[in-house]
Order: sequence, then structure tokens, then C-alpha cells
Amino acid sequence: MPAVPALWGHRYLILLHVIALLTCLLFTYYHFQKHYARDSHWSAQLLPTETEADLIVLLWTWPFGDHFPLNQCPKPFNNPRCFFTDDRDWFPKANAVIFHHRDVCRFKSQMPQMPRPEGQYWVWFNLESPSHSPNLAMMDNLFNLTMSYRSDSDIFTPYGWLEKKNESQNFTIPEKSKLVAWVVSNWNPSSKRVTYYNELKEHINVDVYGRQHNRLDSDKFNVVLSTYKFYLSFENSIHRDYITEKLWRNALQSGAVPVVLGPSRENYEKFIPADSFIHVDDFPSAKDLADYLLELDKDPQRYAQYFRWRIRLRPVGKVSWETEYCKACVALHKAPSYRAIPRLSEWYPK
Ligand SMILES: *[C@@H]1O[C@H](CO)[C@@H](O)[C@H](O)[C@H]1NC(C)=O
Ligand SMILES: *[C@@H]1O[C@H](CO)[C@@H](O)[C@H](O)[C@H]1NC(C)=O
Ligand SMILES: *[C@@H]1O[C@H](CO)[C@@H](O)[C@H](O)[C@H]1NC(C)=O
Repeated sequence: MPAVPALWGHRYLILLHVIALLTCLLFTYYHFQKHYARDSHWSAQLLPTETEADLIVLLWTWPFGDHFPLNQCPKPFNNPRCFFTDDRDWFPKANAVIFHHRDVCRFKSQMPQMPRPEGQYWVWFNLESPSHSPNLAMMDNLFNLTMSYRSDSDIFTPYGWLEKKNESQNFTIPEKSKLVAWVVSNWNPSSKRVTYYNELKEHINVDVYGRQHNRLDSDKFNVVLSTYKFYLSFENSIHRDYITEKLWRNALQSGAVPVVLGPSRENYEKFIPADSFIHVDDFPSAKDLADYLLELDKDPQRYAQYFRWRIRLRPVGKVSWETEYCKACVALHKAPSYRAIPRLSEWYPK
């Protein structure tokens, strides 16, 4: 009878040994893999043919969780080079870390919990306006560079811009069959833009697209909007330089004349020609604006004046997340060895 427990004890010991051996092997393999993988990163990405020193740049999060290819910077942002990674194991060695505000502003625990290496640059990246950027005070005394749509950012990442165009490529106004369009997803009844729209629609017909309204599939987006003479580029909040894809993509890239509600006309004119848009502030009331749009509708020559600038320039929408981060790389190479932003919340007032 005692032979059975003895035999079991023996088998049990062998089993334990096998488990220990397997664990050991797995651990060694994992360790090797990790370091080998790192080394191959170093040789493939960090030590390119260029001889100048490169920077290691850590993306603390993917912006809004959107993934995109790293380390493929297009011209003219491909030189100097950075090694970009999303692997937080690099934190102690990273020269710079880029934080996308919306992904780290909810809890303190979303920021690094380990000691910050000396000399490491922290970049604050945000494309939302102050009205939609919670907990800004939490960002005081942490950052070294700003990266946003504000033109006085260290790294200026606008929603769009104008480029000189080849004059031999003619622009023709898209065929128009409709009057005024507006795409709106965030319908806040007390916002300035909805209040203004409610008044405007008493005097002129406006086709509204978006959540809770007519559907507009993304593949037909620009084609449908191009059939409208005017597009309401109404921003969700009013802040200096806060001029978004509502102007660049929805109106200008579709070839519809933007009717803007946002910062002052003067502010818009820093970015686009005075004769390329209509500002709601140009009119004492929504009715006066509606009357003006109806006038232009009957006067093709006057309407065409809003496209004169297109002989020289063409609008470009935001290219990609990748390009924004590549811009940061260029700026980081030029940054001084010390710079602090004690009060980010004051720089980005609500
Ligand atoms: C403009 O376009 C023409 C024809 O496509 C081309 O021959 C010319 O080199 C272009 N000029 C510039 C400055 O890009
Ligand atoms: C552009 O417009 C000019 C003047 O209207 C015309 O002579 C020229 O042929 C046009 N070029 C193209 C490529 O359509
Ligand atoms: C970065 O900024 C923080 C505060 O904003 C400061 O404490 C830190 O010393 C700065 N680091 C560098 C390298 O400039």
C-alpha cells in the first residue's frame, strides 16, 4: 500500500522539475526576444545612414487611440530623424515624450508614475479648444513644448493651410445646384452656432447633415458639399486661431464658400484671404446675412469673386497624425536644452 503514495511523490517531483525547467526556458526566451527585438530596432530605426545624433521620442498614448505607421516621416520632415515608439519601456531612455491631452487629462494616473529622467522633454499635444480641454490646471509645471492649432505653439499643427499652386492648373468652380449646407454632429441647443442657425433658417433654406439630421456618407462627403454654394463653417467654441476642418475640409476643399462663425474676421485673415469667406460678424443680423446670400445666389459674377484667390493658392487639409508627430521631431532637434511652461492653463485660457 505505501508504494502508491511513494510513486506519486516521485512523479510529482519530476513534474515540478519539468515545470521549473520550462519556466526557466520561457523566461530566457522572453528576455532574449525583448532585448534582441530592441537591438534590431536600434539597428533598423535608430542608426540610419545619417550620422547625426537622433532622438528617441515616446508617444505616451496614440491620439484618441488612433494608430498609424511610425518612423516613416514624409518630406520635408524626414531629416533630422527621430526614433518614435509607443513602447513605454522606453520611458527612462526617451529624449522626449509626447502627451495627447485628451488621453491623459482625466486622472493623474494616466500620466507617468515613474521618476522623470533629467533632461527629458515633455510635449503637450492638443487640437481641441480650451472649452473642450478638461483639467488644464493639472498640466501646469510639467511641460516643455506646446503642440496645437494655436499659431504661437512651439509646434504649430493647424487643421489646414494654403499652399502656392501651379498657375497652369486652373481651378473651376464646382457645378452648383443647392444653396446652403451645414454638417453638425454635436448639437448643443444653447451654443452660439445653434442659436445663430435657428435665426438664419427663418430667412434662408439650410440643409443640415449629421447625427440627428440627414445622413452624409463619408465617401460622398466632399462631392455632396461641392454642390452647395455656401457652407456654414460654424465652430463649436470661439477661441483665437481655433479654425478647424469645418473651414478647411468641409468648405474650402469642397469648393463651397465658407460662412464662418468663430474668432474675429481679423483672426481668419491671418490664415486665408479676406475675399475667400463670409463672416457672420459682417452683418448686423442673421436676416441680413441671409439676404446677402440670396443676392449672391442671383449674381454669379459676384459669387465667383469668392474664388479669385484660387488662381494662386489651394487649400490643404490636415494630412495625418504621422506628419504632426514628424513636425515635433524637427522642433525637438531645434529646442533649447532647458525650457519650462509653468502655467499651461494660463497660456490656454478658457
Ligand atoms: C506646373 O505644371 C506644369 C504642367 O503640369 C509643369 O510643366 C511645370 O513644371 C509645373 N511648375 C511648377 C513650378 O511646379
Ligand atoms: C487655364 O485657363 C487659361 C485662361 O483661361 C487657358 O488659356 C488655359 O488653356 C487653361 N489651362 C488648362 C490646363 O485648362
Ligand atoms: C521641462 O519643464 C518642466 C516644468 O514645466 C521643468 O521642471 C523641467 O526642468 C523642464 N525640463 C527641461 C529639459 O527643460
